[in-house]
Amino acid sequence: SLPQTEFTLRVNGRDHPLRTDARLTLLDALHDRLGLTGTKKGCDQGTCGACTVHVDGRRVLSCLTLAAQCDEREIATVEGLGTEDELHPVQRAFLEHDAFQCGYCTPGQIMSALGLMAEGRAGSPDEIREYMSGNICRCGAYQNIVAAIRDVAGTEDGGRA
Ligand code: FES
Ligand code: FES
Repeated sequence: SLPQTEFTLRVNGRDHPLRTDARLTLLDALHDRLGLTGTKKGCDQGTCGACTVHVDGRRVLSCLTLAAQCDEREIATVEGLGTEDELHPVQRAFLEHDAFQCGYCTPGQIMSALGLMAEGRAGSPDEIREYMSGNICRCGAYQNIVAAIRDVAGTEDGGRA
């Protein structure tokens, strides 16, 4: 049988004790063990950005991250942002700027956008394009995605509220 391991995933402030195959990815743990399917699986091999989440405040590709490596670390997913009544400023900007079509890439785009603002990398459209380049949008909504991020990054709190 496969080696099992025990650890705790802390996702959006809630602890989830798990016992799993040691090779389970963070993405599969979120989907299959925690029922958090807002984070999308695109390529499952690190090339599309759809699975972007934050671990200890930094963006990571959850398809390339082992769940067991996240023991006791702070994981943030798109489910932790805003509510239906009160959208997060980045979610609102994506809506206002038509920054998605099918929406499949959007959770990853939004988590990546938050990461790039926290990194101070949203200073210009070129910089945004460069630091968002790991997030692929098959629908080609790039121009509106950049506009949405510009909008939020231009506000006083840099979109961190
Ligand atoms: Fe992780 Fe594509 S699903 S980068
Ligand atoms: Fe469809 Fe980006 S909105 S892939």
